[in-house]
Amino acid sequence: MPNLTINGETFEVATGERLVLAIEGSGVNIGHRCGGYARCTTCRVEFEAGEPEVMTKAEYERLTNRDLFGQVRLSCQIECDRDMSVKPLITLENEPAWQDTGPTPEETVTPEAEWFPIEMLTGE
Ligand code: FES
Repeated sequence: MPNLTINGETFEVATGERLVLAIEGSGVNIGHRCGGYARCTTCRVEFEAGEPEVMTKAEYERLTNRDLFGQVRLSCQIECDRDMSVKPLITLENEPAWQDTGPTPEETVTPEAEWFPIEMLTGE
């Protein structure tokens, strides 16, 4: 089972668990305002270690059209398939206007995911 480190604290998570749900399961109120469909970017995280070298097309398109590509990853588009260390950036606690973190994401990545090597998406 992979280790997930969040803000310096480490938890064991189920292999293949959706990252946004693993973060939430560890007690961090990370945003997922679109319900995990790669639309809102509130599930964004900074990777400190273990960043996947693959990405869904939905994540790539959303990050590039919000000028976030290369800075953050969308935790709703990532499965815990290795040890990872992340910093969640948008939480209920730092968004005073929110009543909640958003609709509960499904257990599997949505929209139906296919992962591509990042350099294939960027055309490099
Ligand atoms: S982009 Fe909305 S939950 Fe991930």
